[in-house]
Amino acid sequence: MAHHEDFADLIDDRPDEGVFRVHRRVFTDPELFELEMKYIFESGWVFVGLASQLARPHDFFTTTIGRHQILVTRNGEGEIKAFHNSCPHKGARICQHEAGNAKLHVCPYHSWSFDSSGRNRAIKGKAAGAYSEAFEAASHDLFTVAAFGEYRGFLFASLSADVPPLEEYLGDARPLIDLIADQSPDGMELVPGSVSFTFDANWKLQLENCSDQYHFSSVHPSYLRILDRRTQRAYEGSTRNMWDVNKREEEKPGEPTGGTYNFSQGHVLNWRMPDTPEALPLYERSDELAARVGEAKRDWMFYSRNLTLFPNVQFAENASSQLRIIRPISVNRTEMRTFCIAPKGESAEARRVRIRQYEDFFNPTGLATPDDAVVYEACQEGYVSEADPWLQGYSRGMCASKPGPDRFADAIGLKPASSVSADRWLSDETIFHAYYRAWRERMVSGGKVHEGAPRQRRA
Ligand code: FES
Ligand SMILES: [Fe+2]
Repeated sequence: MAHHEDFADLIDDRPDEGVFRVHRRVFTDPELFELEMKYIFESGWVFVGLASQLARPHDFFTTTIGRHQILVTRNGEGEIKAFHNSCPHKGARICQHEAGNAKLHVCPYHSWSFDSSGRNRAIKGKAAGAYSEAFEAASHDLFTVAAFGEYRGFLFASLSADVPPLEEYLGDARPLIDLIADQSPDGMELVPGSVSFTFDANWKLQLENCSDQYHFSSVHPSYLRILDRRTQRAYEGSTRNMWDVNKREEEKPGEPTGGTYNFSQGHVLNWRMPDTPEALPLYERSDELAARVGEAKRDWMFYSRNLTLFPNVQFAENASSQLRIIRPISVNRTEMRTFCIAPKGESAEARRVRIRQYEDFFNPTGLATPDDAVVYEACQEGYVSEADPWLQGYSRGMCASKPGPDRFADAIGLKPASSVSADRWLSDETIFHAYYRAWRERMVSGGKVHEGAPRQRRA
């Protein structure tokens, strides 16, 4: 699997014939994994963090881009920069911490030091070092990453300079980032604390599952049962029921209560109207939001929304609000780093509810995340069987997918490349097509991120 023309053969995409299938090898081939790191993660924009993580001068955090260690810092002048977290001396990873505040980063190996602008400040024993003129003339500063950008407080970086501007990469998915950022006049922040965990499966299982409505009632029945039991007992505890079974039974088949959108570059959204918007911590701001952003956008902020910005970040606003960063480690191992995000300045009570809802559902200690990880690993185990190598899980909704926006997108001027308006039962799978079209394009072109208008589906 080293020839570019072969990548296209792994995605069987024939819209005119109603066929979309993905080859199992996409999840299992270690050589493909290396190429994904090179052509997807290390050749284009990836999410690295939030500006609010760097509130003060000299605040920093570390992250990865593909296989590369990265240091992101705010310098004394207030600018945010991203560097390769690797020493120019002998390559050691310099900063070992997840986050902190430091005017100086000192390499653990031979103590070269660097300031928060990445400038080399000292070389231990330099005067006695009998260095050559050529060495003296060379830069010993940290290497900046090739491209760095911020959109509404969300930070992205690219190891390749050959990328479209960030705003163009985010493209028509930008209004969905605005729906997150505009929840407070001051933007969003991370609730202190983060969790990381690993699962023994390919990173694209996480990518897909966040957009997979179909699994919910199969994988999370215990969560649903607990919520129902709380409702029946008029439980006045910390977490309100956001999935009200009684309301669900009133719905008529065919009546749209949600849907999916595919955008250019592999970005997608799936969304659903909430059963009980008053259970959301954002509800206290309802009037303020309507006045500031208008009723249509306010209503959209109350919809359950899962947004993926390809390839490595997901915003899950359903049970509470979660930011997920996907870090592929190997073809069958993935690390997730997750944070609770919240509008700055929300009331203490809303913040309490948000954190309780968050704990309820997410993370290895929550009621949903462990169930998801178990099925990811079940898939990875099952992929070995290649009796029929083509997976059939990309077909629901094919006759419901329409080019361009639907009326819900129109209400807020959103311009997806394609839309599915869905009742509660449709559980669209064409949402995954955007991922694999972007995947194929990047793999076939050797990492080139295309520019310009969104790719239109052939209707
Ligand atoms: S590797 Fe960093 S000082 Fe030697
Ligand atoms: Fe799930």
